[in-house]
Amino acid sequence: MEVEHLEGVTFGSVVTDIDIEAIDESEWNELYDLWIDRALLVFPGVSLTEEAQDRFARRFGDLEFPRAALSNIGKDGKVHFEDGDEVVKSLRGNEGWHHDSTYMPLQAKGAVFSAEIVPSSGAATGWADMRAAYEELDADTKDRISNLTAYHSLYYSQGRSGYLPDKQNEDGTYNLYGYHDMDVSLRPLVKVHPVTGQPNLLIGRHAHDIVGMEREESVKLLDDLNDWACQPPRTYHHQWTAGDAVVWDNRRLQHRGTPFDMREPRRMWHTRIAGESSSELAINHQPDAIPSDDVERHPTGTWAC
Ligand SMILES: [Fe+2]
Repeated sequence: MEVEHLEGVTFGSVVTDIDIEAIDESEWNELYDLWIDRALLVFPGVSLTEEAQDRFARRFGDLEFPRAALSNIGKDGKVHFEDGDEVVKSLRGNEGWHHDSTYMPLQAKGAVFSAEIVPSSGAATGWADMRAAYEELDADTKDRISNLTAYHSLYYSQGRSGYLPDKQNEDGTYNLYGYHDMDVSLRPLVKVHPVTGQPNLLIGRHAHDIVGMEREESVKLLDDLNDWACQPPRTYHHQWTAGDAVVWDNRRLQHRGTPFDMREPRRMWHTRIAGESSSELAINHQPDAIPSDDVERHPTGTWAC
């Protein structure tokens, strides 16, 4: 395989000359070490099938869920583009920086993400390096946040951005992935990576209400940290070509979608790799509280990020 590190960025590599469906053991070891080191691997033009994408993702760990569409094309085949449309709201929410599934009992370990239908402009996916951000923090801030914890909730993030779903149950819940009625996940602001042992910020749009802090102060601290952390040289935006695939380390990186003209169709495929209960479990959850597949698929075919 050929490896080229992204230029001017603290993470990320482009990998070519690789047959993802025929990786032998030594190539796998090299690829896994590269993934741990670089956190984002880009595979241009590999056009993975559904089976190949899920099989590749399973090499990194158990799946939180197998390949699912992130798309503005509904199950009826129609393109959804109007403000207030359920599909549009779900996609728009993803435009805020986040780590996937921090609102679940188990934060995701990573994801394999690929492009099938790409609009003519926009729709890049961005990633931001929370390890490099942590390293660059001044000593006072490191000290201030070292023992802080925050809650992570999809109700909070989607509500704050105005993208909560329309269909609510009588008890205030939604039958959609991520809107669970278990305890709201509590997580440290500084996560120690289970493989490298290196600390990184664990923040993003789902984080709220730092324990022991007034709401206003908590919002400001989280917003300030996030705005500062997600800046060059710690960010990379990938402009997709149909057939491209990536795999990222969701323990270390945040990511986001970016806008595009939603009158144009776009279809991405996302396979989410489950975190480990020894390292990605929320502080206030027990391993046996992790829901398996009792979650309902989004009726429009899209999933929460
Ligand atoms: Fe996401």
